[in-house]
This record gives sequence, structure tokens and C-alpha cells, in this order.
Amino acid sequence: MSVAKLVLEGKEYDLPVFSGSEGETAIDIASLRAKSTAITFDPGYGNTGSCQSAVTFIDGEKGILRHRGYSIEELAVNARFTEVAHLLIYGELPTAGQLTQWRSDLADHDQVHQQLLQMISHFPPAAHPMGILSSIIAAMSTYYSDDEPVDVHIRRLVSQVAMIAAAAYRSSRGLPVVFPRRELGYAANFLRMMFGGPTSDYVVPKVLEDAMNMLLIVHADHEQNCSTSTVRMVGSSQANIYASMAAGVCALWGPLHGGANQAVLEMLDAIHADGGDYKKYMEMAKRKDSGFRLMGFGHRVYKNFDPRASLLKKACDDVLDHLGVLDPLLDIAKNLEEIALKDEFFIERKLYPNVDFYSGIIYRAMGFPVNMFTALFAIGRMPGWIAHWREQDAEGARIHRPRQIYTGPNLRAYPK
Ligand code: CMC
Repeated sequence: MSVAKLVLEGKEYDLPVFSGSEGETAIDIASLRAKSTAITFDPGYGNTGSCQSAVTFIDGEKGILRHRGYSIEELAVNARFTEVAHLLIYGELPTAGQLTQWRSDLADHDQVHQQLLQMISHFPPAAHPMGILSSIIAAMSTYYSDDEPVDVHIRRLVSQVAMIAAAAYRSSRGLPVVFPRRELGYAANFLRMMFGGPTSDYVVPKVLEDAMNMLLIVHADHEQNCSTSTVRMVGSSQANIYASMAAGVCALWGPLHGGANQAVLEMLDAIHADGGDYKKYMEMAKRKDSGFRLMGFGHRVYKNFDPRASLLKKACDDVLDHLGVLDPLLDIAKNLEEIALKDEFFIERKLYPNVDFYSGIIYRAMGFPVNMFTALFAIGRMPGWIAHWREQDAEGARIHRPRQIYTGPNLRAYPK
């Protein structure tokens, strides 16, 4: 085993070095605690490995994203979302027999509890779907016992997250809930629960089903991002799986993470409403004091391109073409991308369109309201969160508990 040497205040420390299966190197600093009181400092965890994981590999410089060894480009085009969910959670693509069983297991657990549906109907009509989703997922823990096998909880979460999101939407519109149908695939079922009537023969157009399937797959996992790390953090306290997933939904909600898809559409809308002068907004994004960022641009890990964005840019053209939709926001998005890719500020900082840049335009063409976009991300990400929770649970990981450097006042006397 190789060793890294750290010299601190004249004392030398040997720290073990190890590698991942793609050759990534890690310096294991865990032993430093026993020998020194110095901590490592990395706010925002820009260069801190929090775990070893066999779920997803990303090479941000090369724009590589692979789940359990399979490239996102292959999965997005060839697989169905339920297969990818199985791959992420259980480590392998299912055989034909396993897939039939997995789909049947999901269908056996796809009905949201009647009382939870009632709860959904009591939220105010303007409630954000992410607030409803996180609340109802946390509330599932009050209906289902910890004593049940974890696989049953997993099936419920994977299948019911779609129905909860759809029910949140329908309830906000005063529409009756649509229940899932066993014979439909995951994406078609979800679209029917959103846009079909409870008794209607609404058939989901194939092009929309395929687009939804791909959108779910490209969101399915992304290793130690903010929400997945949150799921691991909460799970590390041995909180139940529903509490851990609800925490993931909350972390995803913010505009710097999954909430960016909503923020992108709102930004494009604002630019359009302001006469379409995208160059003005580009200049604003470069001025720090403006407080404005180009939403859908930049990524902590990808420094060349986001492979998910490339897939979605193409899917966006296909879906809009198929639907015959001419969306002026797509032109603004393409223009913004074009000038950003040539702009020194963006080149220097390696800022490229991310997964959220084009997804909103597709969602909008499909008929989703803007405040549903982040909930769609959460449906896709559920298998990824579960895969990480399960992996960590199997390892019996230690509770996550970072250190800090204290910068407050020193001891002072309480005023008499
Ligand atoms: N527009 C303008 N400037 C930006 C942007 C942007 N979107 N993103 C980063 N920068 C600048 C930033 O001001 C900083 O400049 P300087 O070095 O001069 O101070 C530099 O680029 C590095 O930015 P950072 O905030 O330190 O980078 P980070 O790795 O902490 O943040 C990010 C990554 C994704 C939060 C950030 O790029 C951002 O806020 N993007 C917009 C929100 C967004 O699209 N989020 C979705 C991410 S992908 C979906 C997912 O979460 O998985």
C-alpha cells in the first residue's frame, strides 16, 4: 500500500493511499485524528471523499457518467427506467425473469395509502409539490413498520413517489386522483396519472412515454451530490428509509441543485418577457454584484460537458419536433449556450450547460407546470438515493459527523 506523508509542525505523519476501480486516488486521513488534533478543512466538500461506493462513476474532466459500469448514453437510449432502478439498487441489470418479477413487485406496492392521499388533498392549492412530496414520504414512516423487510419499503418508495407527485399536482388543480395501472410501464403510468382522467381511455403518446423514460434515467443517480450525501448523512444516524428519502427530497429542492430546472425556466421566461435580450443577462451573470447566475450552467464535477445535458439537448429537439411545438424559450436557451461557450468568463471557469438547462423546456412541451419540474427530478433520483442508502446500510457505516474550526468569541463571563 502506498503512503502519503504529511509534515505538520515538524512532525511527520504517514497516511495510507488507496485507489478506486477507475484509478482515482484517495489519501485516507482518518488515522490523523488519533495522532493530532488538526483537522482537514474543505468547506463545501469540494475535494473530500465521504465514502467508497460501487454505484456510480463520474469523470468530470472527460464528461463520463456510468452506473455500475454502464454508460449513461447506452442506458438512456436502450433501457427502461425500472431496469435502471434495479441496476442501481441491486447492482445488476435484471434478467428477463427478474424484470418481470421486479415490475410485479413494484405494481404490488404502487397504491398510496388512502389516508396519505387525503393528507395530500389538505395542502393549500399553491403548495409546492416538493413540500408535499417530502412531507408525504416522511409520513409513510408512520404507516409502515420498521419490522417489514427493507425490500418492501424500497418497492413502495420507487413506485409510490410517482403517484404522490401526480396526486399533488392533481389535487392542486382540484382534479380527482388517477390510480396506477398494472399493465403500463413506469413512465406511461406516471404520465397517465398526471394527465389522464380516472376513468378515461387516455393513451399516453409513445413519444412522450419515451421522453419521460429517458428523463427519468438521466436523473437516476449522480454519486455524492448534495441530496444523495444528505440521504447518506441522515441514514448514517440509522433514521428509517422514509425519513432518509424525505431528507433527500428537501435537499434536492434548492435552486443550486434539483431546483435549478424550475429556476432555468423562470429565467428563460423572464428574459423572453424582457424582450429576449439574452446578451444583457449574460453580462449580468458575469457581474458578481448583480447577484444573478445563469441557471442551468456550471457544475461542481463536470468541467467539460455534462453528458446528461448533451442527451437532453438532443431529446429536446426531438420532442419539440414531434409535438410541433415552437418554443421561443428554446431559441433563447440555444443562444445563451452559444455565447456562453465562447465567453472568456465561462471558459475560464469551465461553466457548461448542465442537466437542468434543457430538461425544463421538454417538461414544458409535455405539459408539466413549472413548479412540478423538481418533483420530476425527485422521481428519477429515488432509485439512486435508495441504492446509496442500501449500500451504506449494508456496510454499517459510522454516523457522519464532520468537524469544524470554531471562530466565535473565547470564554467570557455572563454579565451580572
Ligand atoms: N453563472 C455565473 N457564474 C457562475 C455560475 C453560473 N451559473 N456557476 C458558477 N459561476 C462562477 C462563480 O461565480 C465562481 O466564480 P469565481 O471563481 O470568479 O468566484 C466560479 O464560477 C465557481 O463557482 P462556484 O459557485 O464556486 O462553483 P460550485 O462548484 O460551488 O457550484 C453550482 C456549482 C452548480 C452550484 C454552480 O455552478 C451554480 O450555482 N450553477 C447554477 C445552478 C445550477 O444550474 N445548478 C444545477 C446543478 S446540476 C443538477 C444537479 O444538482 O445535479
